[in-house]
Amino acid sequence: MIKFDGVTKCFKELRALDNVSFEVKEGEVFGFIGENGAGKTTSIRLMTGLLKPTSGSVKIADKNPYKNIEVHKIFSCVQDTYGLYESLTVRENFLFYSSLYEVSGKTAKERYLPLLERFNLADKENINVSKLSKGMRQKASIIRALITNPKILILDEPTAGLDPLSQDSIKSLLKEKAREGTTVFLSSHNLNEIEGICNRIAILRKGELLDIGTVRDIVNKYGNIVFEIDIDKEYVDVAYNLICSWIPKESVEKLERGILIKRDIPISEINKKLVKKDIPILGFKRRISSLEMIYKKIMEENNE
Ligand SMILES: Nc1ncnc2c1ncn2[C@@H]1O[C@H](COP(=O)(O)OP(=O)(O)OP(=O)(O)O)[C@@H](O)[C@H]1O
Ligand SMILES: [Mg+2]
Repeated sequence: MIKFDGVTKCFKELRALDNVSFEVKEGEVFGFIGENGAGKTTSIRLMTGLLKPTSGSVKIADKNPYKNIEVHKIFSCVQDTYGLYESLTVRENFLFYSSLYEVSGKTAKERYLPLLERFNLADKENINVSKLSKGMRQKASIIRALITNPKILILDEPTAGLDPLSQDSIKSLLKEKAREGTTVFLSSHNLNEIEGICNRIAILRKGELLDIGTVRDIVNKYGNIVFEIDIDKEYVDVAYNLICSWIPKESVEKLERGILIKRDIPISEINKKLVKKDIPILGFKRRISSLEMIYKKIMEENNE
């Protein structure tokens, strides 16, 4: 549904994207991650036809979105700037947008009213956008994007700055849309969110694609085994110092109520040693490192 083939985008001498290729298949929820300035928004502007690649090709449903206006009917985009008219009410924004897509006012209303309700914005329907808070605008922008019932939903950091409950509502909405078959392209710095809803992810750094794969592939490729030892708060410091005398300090991290060890360890030995020093252990957890840990590791490794 979305295809980048050797895409380079330069702004004068700045190379914002460098020979980037990836493909998002129908029905996928695809996550796009990368530090500030990595080129995520630029990629989104290219796929929505707002920018033209310097070289390479960008296709949406096999069409060039820069040249082909028809293809714009099948996708909706939630931009980082929200794209709502300040001097119009929420309802007027929704109706104007739906009219551009030849969606009737009645259908638009049937679609947006339950969403306004769901995002606690029901009382804002007739309020000017200029009077909405930042988070409210963001949610209104997501609702606007859904009014056209798009086949592809492209979102640039849709939950950035939203309160935790609103973030959860967006996450569950995106999951719902994916279940209904919508292709979702999501750029985000919230790696928990990406991990929770995406099938595949691409990692971008300074305009280059560092890696691409399923969350599981990426976690398996870069991840480590992590041990969490639950210890009473008062024993954390002494346990930390002891463990650091057995294991390199770089792999050990203090938690509020425990110790995190970022490497495979002979756990029964550590257990015995801690018990010998009268440190009560409340539990052990062995898990693969999270996408967040992996992301930090990849970025550090590639930091020239
Ligand atoms: N219109 C523009 N003119 C000149 N340079 C630009 C333009 N748009 C983006 N850039 C540059 O391209 C690079 C990539 O920017 P982009 O906005 O795509 O990053 P991003 O990954 O979305 O970052 P963030 O996480 O901060 O949103 C940056 O160096 C930015 O300064
Ligand atoms: Mg951006």
